[in-house]
Amino acid sequence: MQTPIIFLHGFPFNGSCWDPQVAHFKNKTTVFNPDLRGHRHGPGTQKSESPQGPWMIAHFVDDLITFLDEKKIQKINLCGLSMGGYIALHFVNKFPERVQSLILCDTQAGSDNNETKNQRYETIKNIHKNGLTELAKSFSKKALSERTLKNNPQIQSQLESMILENKAECIALVVGALAARNDFKSALSSITCPTMVIVGSDDAITSPEINKELALGIPGARFEQISFAGHLSNLEKPEAFNSLLEEFLMKH
Ligand code: MLT
Repeated sequence: MQTPIIFLHGFPFNGSCWDPQVAHFKNKTTVFNPDLRGHRHGPGTQKSESPQGPWMIAHFVDDLITFLDEKKIQKINLCGLSMGGYIALHFVNKFPERVQSLILCDTQAGSDNNETKNQRYETIKNIHKNGLTELAKSFSKKALSERTLKNNPQIQSQLESMILENKAECIALVVGALAARNDFKSALSSITCPTMVIVGSDDAITSPEINKELALGIPGARFEQISFAGHLSNLEKPEAFNSLLEEFLMKH
């Protein structure tokens, strides 16, 4: 495994979501798991900065290309979960020559419908009024499978703490970026790099059906489902996730 791998986390967590993958892959290749824009220490979060919105997924793509150029990295294995997958899809569309292989996890190619946009608006209003407490409670639960909530409840507490580490104003801007994202369904057929789509069987946010449809749209993409995992398949079932990823990366 020569090419570095970069992991893009989901909303509204941070790079530490990928700790089980960093631990597994760090002796095999160069691994990056940055905090993304608006999350923990990511771009736009510095004390001196008052974040200037609106933000769009294109800003996250700019951050990623700046990160790679600064490190003089030409090609990457790009692995994104949920929001990280939206960024990865946008990135591979804009910079196909920089992506050696693509791993999309618990994500989708479609954009928000009106109902989801209205829910995003309510979330933004709520964050402005009450901060992140409610989001931390509800989203950390929704993101995990029943099995994880029962057998590994500490993962939920870990997620809640991650959400509360963020600045509310930044997370409100990220919600706006999610709502404004492009629809990439019709662009899937032009993806040429080896691609794998992974989803938790109990993902309540981006279902296995949605992920299957995503895989079917990408020429030659492999589709894998991880049993009893929810939306955070890499964190809920790290061994199954790592072995799929390792096998895929060894081939490509
Ligand atoms: C995520 O996990 O990144 C979010 O669920 C994405 C979204 O809400 O669309």
